[in-house]
Amino acid sequence: MLILGIETSCDETSAALVEDGNNILSSTIATQLDLLKKYGGVVPEVAARRHAELIGYVIKEALNTGKKTLDDVDAVAVTSRQGLIGCLMVGVAAAKSISYARQIPLIGLHHIEGHIFANILSNPDLPIPHIALTVSGGHNMLVHVKRNCRYEVLGATLDDAAGEAFDKIAKFLGLDFPGGPVIDRLSKQGNRKAFAFPRPMIRSKELDFSFSGLKTSVINMFKEKIANGESLPLSDIAASFQEAVVDTLVAKTIRAVEEKNAKVVSVTGGVSANTRLREVFTETCKKKGIQVFFPKLSLCTDNAAMIAAAGYARMKMGERSDLRLNVFPNAPLGG
Ligand code: KG4
Ligand code: ZN
Repeated sequence: MLILGIETSCDETSAALVEDGNNILSSTIATQLDLLKKYGGVVPEVAARRHAELIGYVIKEALNTGKKTLDDVDAVAVTSRQGLIGCLMVGVAAAKSISYARQIPLIGLHHIEGHIFANILSNPDLPIPHIALTVSGGHNMLVHVKRNCRYEVLGATLDDAAGEAFDKIAKFLGLDFPGGPVIDRLSKQGNRKAFAFPRPMIRSKELDFSFSGLKTSVINMFKEKIANGESLPLSDIAASFQEAVVDTLVAKTIRAVEEKNAKVVSVTGGVSANTRLREVFTETCKKKGIQVFFPKLSLCTDNAAMIAAAGYARMKMGERSDLRLNVFPNAPLGG
């Protein structure tokens, strides 16, 4: 079964062709980096307009790269829930048009389910059940993946997601957007013990996250040192901040693993590309006899291949959407 995936929930306009839920024939992603750099972040209305300009080209490019035409496509899978409403609408309108014109099935998916499938797509041997940490710019969740497409949400961010904290700290320090990859690179030259930043809620039994206090603590420390005329190596701040985020994400995930008596961890989403996060997860899980999986780097950030893979899994379970498919900026990760 050949599925055309479409993903436009935030700032990437993406289309992909995936065969039988695991063979990526093409994955086209148009980023909005020029706009992000200009505005220092995502402006929802501007991002939606850019999606509308690009979506037709991106779909055509995915078909051309995969050496297929719309005649070959068996179904369309699209992100319809969780994201910026105007952005989601562009992808869903495109998916509905193709489904109607070609009389092929349509399925709407939750963006986070897509991220969970990015790792399954990267690692076909990833066992289910497992604990998934989805960690991105817009979301931060701990999910118990109990069975195929059946989820129990264990915790989520109460304020900023980890990626958002990376982006905001980078912006404050005058670094480029998105901040995650820049801080990741800069940290390699820094001392991660230079500053003892707080590990938010690390001792609490709750599995929720909160990164806004850590962000404030970095900003206050920076302002205080500058006011005292002290010089501050950016690489040390970056490395110490990153270490606090990594420690928190790893500790909470291990707590979830222990609570659910799980044996397997899946780390997904944009922040799962982080070098130090991968290193600490790998070391910690090895010591505890837990298996850990990460997506291929190309599938960490938003992409339509993960949506096509999730769509295939749900279609195999007999699920379909119809042309009444709506968009929801906030929606629970349904089971
Ligand atoms: O999954 P994604 O593309 O979008 C959302 O669904 O939000 O994730 C984007 C986020 C950004 O906040 C970016 O700074 C972060 O992922 N990110 C990273 C790295 N690469 C991307 N954060 C830390 N280290 C990285 N290497
Ligand atoms: Zn995402």
